[in-house]
Amino acid sequence: MDELIFVDRSCSNAEKYVLRKKLFGTHDVQPMWVADMDIATPQCVLDAVGERLHHPVLGYEMMSDRAYQAQIGWIQRHHGWKIQREWLSYSPSVVASIGCALRAFSDEGDDVIVMSPVYPPFFQQVKNNNRHLTLYSLAQNSEGHYCFDIETLRSQITPKTKILLLCSPHNPIGRVWSREELFSLGTLCVDYGITIVSDEIHCDIVYEGYTHIPMASLSDELRECTVTFIGTGKTFNMAGFGISTVCIASPHLRALYEKERSRIHWGEGAILSHVAFEAAYVHGDQWHKNLMFHLSNNRKIIQQWASVTARIQISSPQGTYLGWLDCRALGMGDRELREFFIREAGVGLSAGLGFGREGSGFMRLNFAVSTTILEDALEKISMALRGRGDA
Ligand SMILES: Cc1ncc(COP(=O)(O)O)c(C=O)c1O
Repeated sequence: MDELIFVDRSCSNAEKYVLRKKLFGTHDVQPMWVADMDIATPQCVLDAVGERLHHPVLGYEMMSDRAYQAQIGWIQRHHGWKIQREWLSYSPSVVASIGCALRAFSDEGDDVIVMSPVYPPFFQQVKNNNRHLTLYSLAQNSEGHYCFDIETLRSQITPKTKILLLCSPHNPIGRVWSREELFSLGTLCVDYGITIVSDEIHCDIVYEGYTHIPMASLSDELRECTVTFIGTGKTFNMAGFGISTVCIASPHLRALYEKERSRIHWGEGAILSHVAFEAAYVHGDQWHKNLMFHLSNNRKIIQQWASVTARIQISSPQGTYLGWLDCRALGMGDRELREFFIREAGVGLSAGLGFGREGSGFMRLNFAVSTTILEDALEKISMALRGRGDA
């Protein structure tokens, strides 16, 4: 019931397959790019949806209090943060809600801090909403770990800086920010009256030795200036249900956000999504444990592979199922690197440059696949490297 079931998705309309030709110019690649998994959505979710279909009316429905309480329970059990029901509202998409938050908490022309490399819609949402991007370049220290320098960040703040757009855990570099890091970042924002828009969609995919800390849980002050996005999409592989929530404790920020949200009128979402969301959070604990066991194993396999692959390094992900491959030692330009993975290795990865210029020389590999597929893909890459005399 809670076991993981690996599924061949090539015969459904899965983006990872359907978009291959468009993205890679060929159907002939093992797709390991978009951030979803080759694993069946938990049976408890499928059962709940099936059960709901016994009722013959699929009209407008509100998201139930039970569904919100299910999420509140999960967040408390897994992250030790107690959310109040009135802080939460439905969202069909984290990215859409980021756009809504940008409009709610800043004006056109205002500055928004984004730490790059990052999930590309962060850049697009800021630009498309006519805000100005203040890019902070995340850098690796001598051990290859990404970190930030609070004084450099401080020096980038202007009177027009209104929002910090945070990715926590961070896609694509896989950092799970520590309490100290979050606290220093949060304190900086409090000092300058900056609203923190914190995308925590990857919060449940965190490996042993690391702990996800919700930014808003750090202090009363941070709770009042943080807007958090959380959902079932990544955790339970159910992005196709288009459901997540926005959590805003401050009545003032909530009112601003609601005003903007009402302009869009995305309503309360789809009935089957409500049911799926509730079931996942109520019954998904054991499935999630099994998922983390599998992902931890795959993560180890990539780490071992990278340790013997002289010219590709991986800064080990602390969270997310995304491997951030440092290919700079191969000495290829970004176009050549991309072509190498497509034409010579036959794997469809996300090119690092798409995550900002700091991603130059990197590739992102989604390892939420079966171990067989992962090992096969890594072997293909090794063979391609050997073909170039590089392994
Ligand atoms: C950091 C991050 N935020 C948001 C999303 C997408 O969220 P949604 O599908 O709810 O818009 C993703 C998907 O990969 C992501 O990695």
